[in-house]
Formats: sequence, structure tokens, C-alpha cells
Amino acid sequence: PDSRGAEPPDTTDLDRLRSAASGCQACPLYQDATQTVFGEGTARAKVLVVGEQPGDKEDLAGEPFVGPAGKLLDRAFEEAGFDRRSLYVTNAVKHFKFKRDERGKRRIHQKPGRTEVVACRPWLLAELRSVRPELVLLLGATAAQSLLGPKFRLTAHRGEPLEPPEELAGLVPAAMATVHPSAVLRAPDRDEAYASFVADLQAAAKLLG
Ligand code: URA
Repeated sequence: PDSRGAEPPDTTDLDRLRSAASGCQACPLYQDATQTVFGEGTARAKVLVVGEQPGDKEDLAGEPFVGPAGKLLDRAFEEAGFDRRSLYVTNAVKHFKFKRDERGKRRIHQKPGRTEVVACRPWLLAELRSVRPELVLLLGATAAQSLLGPKFRLTAHRGEPLEPPEELAGLVPAAMATVHPSAVLRAPDRDEAYASFVADLQAAAKLLG
């Protein structure tokens, strides 16, 4: 690894990866975020779940999906019949990107850009090599495009079994993309959005052996 900790070390040990990622300066987001939020779960997880980036709560806690989107996600996974212990949960980008509101108090989420997603991708690939999941579940366009490329269109392919690109064959046996749980929280008809989110998770569960 170089001195800026920009490259994951050559290991499949999640604790070593997490510790190395805590010093990552591969993009400028480390400067304002509280800490790196690495993935959570065991190396034996069957399903690797990818979100966008940590939010305000996650940035402070150092854990993925502990805020409102995470609560919704937990409930939806339970309803779709997933065992929490079968999941490894992480994000495409591992530092919180935000701007301050006018009074400088609230931190407002900003969508990560392609350069940040690309800078962080080696960590996601290292997590994939460590966990070797049966299924990768991509939550939202940022997660999906991180693995599948910027041309991927979530609206056209949500809920479908996806063909992983050749460079990931072997690493990603099966994949599905669906909406981000934050999009469910913001939807005008939240009940309907939630029901189709759970339906996608149920379809994803069927891809497991
Ligand atoms: N949204 C995400 O994409 N990831 C988190 O960890 C929390 C909210």
C-alpha cells in the first residue's frame, strides 16, 4: 500500500482491510468526513449488499445503514425472509459526502460523483474477494453503476437477474439491482414503493441456491 493508504492491501482478511481503509485518502472526501465507514458482516455472508455512501448517522457511528434508510432496510429484509446474519452490508463510497446548510449546522447529503465512486471501487472489490457472496444486491444507481459501469440504467433493469460483466465473473455469481431505501422514504406513495422494494428483495432471495 502507498503512503496515502489509497490501495487496499493484498489480503482477504476483513479486519485488515477495514483497518487499512480507515486511513484511505484516495479521494478528498476523507477531509471532512468523521471516519471511513467500512462494510459490516461476516466473511461467510451469502449476500453482499451495496448502498451508496454513509449518511449523517453512519458517519458518526462508523457503521453502515444505522439511520432511517437502514431501519427501513432491516424491516424489508426481514419481511423478504432474509436472515440478518446471512448479509454483509457495505457502500460503494465509504466516506460521507455532504455540504453544510446556510447556518452551517446541518450536514446535507450530496451524491458522490463518478471519480469518488471509482476511487473507492478497489475497496468494494476487496470486500467481494473476501466475502465471495452467492449474490450481490445493489441498492440504487450509484451502487449498481459502481460495479456494472456508468451506462447501467436502474429504471430499465431493477428487480431483474443481472449478468455480471466479464471482469467480475467468478467474483459475482449472481446480481440484482433495486432502488435505494432512501428513495422509498422519499416516494410520494411510500406504501407502494415499499411493497415493490420488498418484492424485489423476494425475487433476489430466489436467486440464492
Ligand atoms: N445510505 C446508504 O447508502 N448507506 C448507508 O450506509 C446509509 C444510508
